[in-house]
Amino acid sequence: MTVVRQTAAEQATATGRRRASFHTLTVAEVRRLTEDAIEVTFGVPAELAGQYDYLPGQYVALRTTMPDETGQPHEVRRSYSICAEPRSFADGTSEIRVAIKKDLGGLFSTWANAELKAGDQLDVMSPMGAFVSKHGRDGKTVEQNVMNSMNHPEDLAGEPGSFVAIAAGSGITPVIAIARTLLAANPETRFDLIYANKAAMDVMFLEELADLKDKYPSRLALHHVLSREQRIAPLLSGRIDAEKLQALLGTAIHADDVDEWFLCGPFELVQLCRDTLAARGVQPEHVRFELFTSGKPDRPEGNIGRPVIADESKETYKITFKLDGLEGKVESPTHARESILNAALRVRPDVPFACAGGVCGTCRAKVVTGSVTMDENYALEQDELDKGYVLTCQSHPTTPDVTVDFDV
Ligand code: FES
Repeated sequence: MTVVRQTAAEQATATGRRRASFHTLTVAEVRRLTEDAIEVTFGVPAELAGQYDYLPGQYVALRTTMPDETGQPHEVRRSYSICAEPRSFADGTSEIRVAIKKDLGGLFSTWANAELKAGDQLDVMSPMGAFVSKHGRDGKTVEQNVMNSMNHPEDLAGEPGSFVAIAAGSGITPVIAIARTLLAANPETRFDLIYANKAAMDVMFLEELADLKDKYPSRLALHHVLSREQRIAPLLSGRIDAEKLQALLGTAIHADDVDEWFLCGPFELVQLCRDTLAARGVQPEHVRFELFTSGKPDRPEGNIGRPVIADESKETYKITFKLDGLEGKVESPTHARESILNAALRVRPDVPFACAGGVCGTCRAKVVTGSVTMDENYALEQDELDKGYVLTCQSHPTTPDVTVDFDV
C-alpha cells in the first residue's frame, strides 16, 4: 500500500498557517511521571502522520465529553504541550506524547490521571503554537519550519546557540522537548534550564532530565529550584521572586550571552521573567513565553458555550465570519457582551479554539470590517496585531457590523 503523506505545507493556508482539526487517536501508553502527573502517548496512523507533524514546544488540544457539575454531558477541551521531540517510524506512523498534570479541581486532568489507559480513544487536535525556537530561521512561519524540519530534521536547531529556559511545574513539558532537540541538533549548543517546583517529589521528568545531563554534561546546565525544600545552595531554595531571579541570572547562568529565552509557567512567574529580562536589555524578539492559563481566577474556558438568546427587540451586533471558505452569520445581543467565538460557535461548532483564555492562539482570525476590543492577549505578537489579527475568544464587537476571517 502506498502511503500518501499530506505535508504540513499542503494543509496550510495561503499564509502558511495550518487549520486546527481534530481526529480520534488511540492512547498507546500511559506512564506515571509523579503522583499527580502522567505522560500519555497517542499513536498517529500513517495516513494522519502529516497532520501531526510538529515543532518541539507546540501543543495539542484534547477533546472529550464528560458530565458537568449538574451531570449533563458537556464538551471539554484542554490543551497540553507535547513533551517529546518529533519522531516517525519506518511504517509511516508517528506518535504524540503529552504530559497531563492534575490541576486542583480540574475536571479533565483529574479524570485523565485516574482513568486514562492504553486503548482509550480521545479527539486530538493537530499541533499548534508558536512557543518554538526561531533561532536561525528568520522570516519563516512556524508552519514552514514544521515542513522543513520534517524533511530536514538536522535543521531543527538552525545554528549553534546559547539558550536559557525558565520553567515551573508542568511548564517543563514543552521545554524538555525543545532542550532535547536543540542539544541533539548541534554539538556546540548550550542550554541552561532553571526549573522551579515545590518539592523534589513534584519534579516531572526527573530521570529524563538527569539522563539528558549525563548525555550533555558540559553543554546542559540544570538548576532545580525548590520552594518548599531546603537545598544546599540557598540560591536554589525558596520561591523565585525578583531578587532570586536577579541572583540566578547574575551567577548561575551566562545571561548576557543568550540567543533565545524560553519561559513557561504560571502568569506571575512568566511576567516577572519578562519584566526582568526587559530591564536587563533583552530584546523581546529573543524571548518566547507560554502560560499555563491566563491567570484569571475563573475557569480557563471562560464564556465558551455560554447560552445567549437573541431577542429581536434588542439591539444586536451582526457578526460575519469566514471559515474554510464558507461564510457564516450570527447576531449577538449587545447587552450579552459575548465573545465573537462564543457567538460563532452557535452556528458553526467547528470554529477552532482550545484554551478560550487568550493563551494558545488557536482561535485567531483577522478583522476584515468593523472593529473589536480584546480582553486578554498572551498569544499574538505585535506584528500580527498590526495586521488586524485578533483572538476571537477574547474579542467583543465595538461596531454594529463585524467581519472576521479565520482562513487568512
Ligand atoms: S482559544 Fe486559546 S487564545 Fe482563544
